[in-house]
Amino acid sequence: MSAPLRTQVAIIGAGPSGLLLGQLLHRAGIDNVILERQSAEHVLGRIRAGVLEQTTCELLDAAGVGARMHAEGLLHRGFELCFGGARHRIDLHGLTGGKQVMVYGQTEITRDLMAARVHAGLQTLYQAGEVVPHDYDTTLPRITYHHDGQARELRCDFIAGCDGYHGACRASAPAGALTVFERVFPFAWLGVLADTPPVSHELIYSKHERGFALCSMRSPTRTRYYVQCSPDDKVEQWSDAMFWDELRRRLDPATAATLATGPSIEKSIAALRCFVAEPMRLGRLFLAGDAAHIVPPTGAKGLNLAASDVHYLSRALIEHYAEHSDAGIDHYSARCLARIWKAERFSSWMTSLLHRFPDTGAIGERLQRAELDYLTGSHAAATALAENYVGLPFDA
Ligand code: APR
Ligand code: PHB
Repeated sequence: MSAPLRTQVAIIGAGPSGLLLGQLLHRAGIDNVILERQSAEHVLGRIRAGVLEQTTCELLDAAGVGARMHAEGLLHRGFELCFGGARHRIDLHGLTGGKQVMVYGQTEITRDLMAARVHAGLQTLYQAGEVVPHDYDTTLPRITYHHDGQARELRCDFIAGCDGYHGACRASAPAGALTVFERVFPFAWLGVLADTPPVSHELIYSKHERGFALCSMRSPTRTRYYVQCSPDDKVEQWSDAMFWDELRRRLDPATAATLATGPSIEKSIAALRCFVAEPMRLGRLFLAGDAAHIVPPTGAKGLNLAASDVHYLSRALIEHYAEHSDAGIDHYSARCLARIWKAERFSSWMTSLLHRFPDTGAIGERLQRAELDYLTGSHAAATALAENYVGLPFDA
């Protein structure tokens, strides 16, 4: 084995959580190394959500990577709910005292963070294999891994487990150390990315008897659309033509008539689940982002929750090194989870409101319709939706 590497914070995973944490720590003078299983190109090839809360944008600014987002991102002051053959606008800006969301793809955030990391000369070891965290219940944690065909070791003060849902960190927890909560929904989303102009300048969430559909976008020339499908469906079963036909059927006639179609650039199927692992800290190991929790994508909370975890974690580590206080470290898990559970609640609620469920029958449909009518007819109900959609505030 070659000589061990040493850093203050070892970060596992170069997704948005790991990269953002690395950048915030670096700006506070804290040394960090990232170990990533895949190549940078592979990480950038994953198409994920793209609606950012204001607090997420502020955090990207604080990390020094907000410039392209402000130049190219699209500020949205509302979105639409489509049901019963018509579209109904939710005025986020008006209902929340001036808040809005930013439409900017996770892929672009990742690209900006990777560029900043290269520019800062920070170490990222891509294609690191067999990454295993050890001894995080002591003051001398370490990580063993393989890189360039060699077995290696990284020693550190802390380990940040930013390695997503299938990562090594949560899996390394001793039996009984974590409590896991999970609900898998009986449907999935088929997503298509296409170079077509968006059907509307705002997002449309559509509830239809045939199932849910979502019209989103990445730019004025690139769209991201989804239709609810069976979790057993395979992408190969869905030709582009079938996708566009199905999407059109689930929109109101006026919108369907103006839908521009084209060849898909990417097509994928994602399951919908709620998942939370508690606590998010085990000694000197912290879980952040998808490593600790998954929300169903309705409401676009996944990336924003990853950002709030990173906000709390960066603050806790900065406090540890700069102020010699471990208060932030001690409160990390509880602070994150308070916000996470509210987002789990909201995302589950929005999912239940808008999808076709295989087993709720006609009464289920009627109750969904009553709730949609209530939302679009009641200022109080619309306000509750809007304040969750734009994002709940961080605690102190
Ligand atoms: N060793 C090293 N790296 C690993 C390992 C491992 N054993 N397992 C996974 N990884 C890497 C993955 O290859 C991935 O690049 O960890 C990274 C985790 O990134 P994400 O899955 O994007 O998770 P996170 O950074 O927390 O971002 C959360 O992603 O899924 C969306 O909705 C979610 O937008 C949210 C965001
Ligand atoms: C997306 O653009 O991919 C997207 C937008 C809103 C959501 C989910 C996904 O609620």
